[in-house]
Amino acid sequence: MTHTGESCCPNAERVLDNLSTTVLVFDAEFRLIFINQAGEVMLAHSARHTCGRLIHELVVNAETLVEHLAGAFTTQQVISKRGCQLQLPDAPDLRVNCTFTPVVEGGEVTTVQVELRQIDHQLRVEQEELLITQQEATRALVRGLAHEIKNPLGGLRGAAQLLEREITDDALKEYTRIIIGEADRLQGLMNRMLGPNNLPEMRAVNIHEVLERVRELVQAEAGDSLQILQDYDPSLPSLYADPDLLTQAILNIVRNASQALAGRGEILLRTRIRRNTNIGTRKHRLIARIEITDNGPGIEEGLRRKIFYPMVTNRSDGTGLGLSIAQALVSRHHGLIECASQPGETTFTILLPLEEMNAAQ
Ligand SMILES: Nc1ncnc2c1ncn2[C@@H]1O[C@H](COP(=O)(O)OP(=O)(O)OP(=O)(O)O)[C@@H](O)[C@H]1O
Ligand SMILES: [Mg+2]
Repeated sequence: MTHTGESCCPNAERVLDNLSTTVLVFDAEFRLIFINQAGEVMLAHSARHTCGRLIHELVVNAETLVEHLAGAFTTQQVISKRGCQLQLPDAPDLRVNCTFTPVVEGGEVTTVQVELRQIDHQLRVEQEELLITQQEATRALVRGLAHEIKNPLGGLRGAAQLLEREITDDALKEYTRIIIGEADRLQGLMNRMLGPNNLPEMRAVNIHEVLERVRELVQAEAGDSLQILQDYDPSLPSLYADPDLLTQAILNIVRNASQALAGRGEILLRTRIRRNTNIGTRKHRLIARIEITDNGPGIEEGLRRKIFYPMVTNRSDGTGLGLSIAQALVSRHHGLIECASQPGETTFTILLPLEEMNAAQ
């Protein structure tokens, strides 16, 4: 059933605020008289700051929007435009699909309702969702394989130990030692591939304490030629998380950065809060952004698309498991790790929901 009229929907404003589409309403002078929460995020200003302002004050290149607004007022027709480029004074440029709907009262258009849907945002959501699904499938495959290999490996090692006890010739014992040594190495690898199997111990965690622990560890490993800088947002609230798992995930990323810099260069650890932001298709009211940026050589595009999959490495002594484990650990907190890279600037961004106090598993 469709409800119409104000009396049927006293929470209409709340409904508009829950939309991920921006809704703006302009009067006949092209003055903003309503903006929903998605609009506040898009324009990077509150309703208090934007309502009452002319469209020219809100959008730098307002000409196209003005033309369609005027069209909707005069023709009384709904107008849709795809792929409009918007330049905003205090937010990054956007590409949006727009719909202009005239609101007619007493035969006249009193206001025009404008809906803006961000195209890049939609693409990003789809890409993230694909990434999450693909990586979950790979992780399940790898864990299954690791399980299958671990059991016979135990048998193999046990048999080699028994054999070693029976052998008296020291030269032959060397062979059994090799079997045992290699079995142990493989066992270690399989354990890493399986990842931590205890249930996470969730509690309130100050992410800055976790970052500081990682910073001290990597600094001690790398020495003074590596500079690790901090840019923390002190207003970031506590996360509900397993601190050891988060430490492991962040350590894997910061260690990679230090290795890429060969111990000489700069790493920046940055934290920020974001409102009404998606992680995959799920929209969160509040999320923490943890960025780890290094000024190393970067990751070339072909490799970058694969780095979160297990066994992908370009280091001779790497197992290629660090990032896939980090992604698995963050995903246990309903978060996601993204990567952007160009020569001289590589950033790994960890997105973690802040509001899900009891949801991690
Ligand atoms: N900050 C970075 N700069 C440049 N390349 C990176 C960076 N982080 C990761 N990489 C690339 O991604 C690959 C995969 O990283 P990952 O941590 O998964 O495995 P690894 O470091 O090779 O091995 P492991 O962590 O298991 O010892 C690395 O081999 C490296 O090529
Ligand atoms: Mg690594």
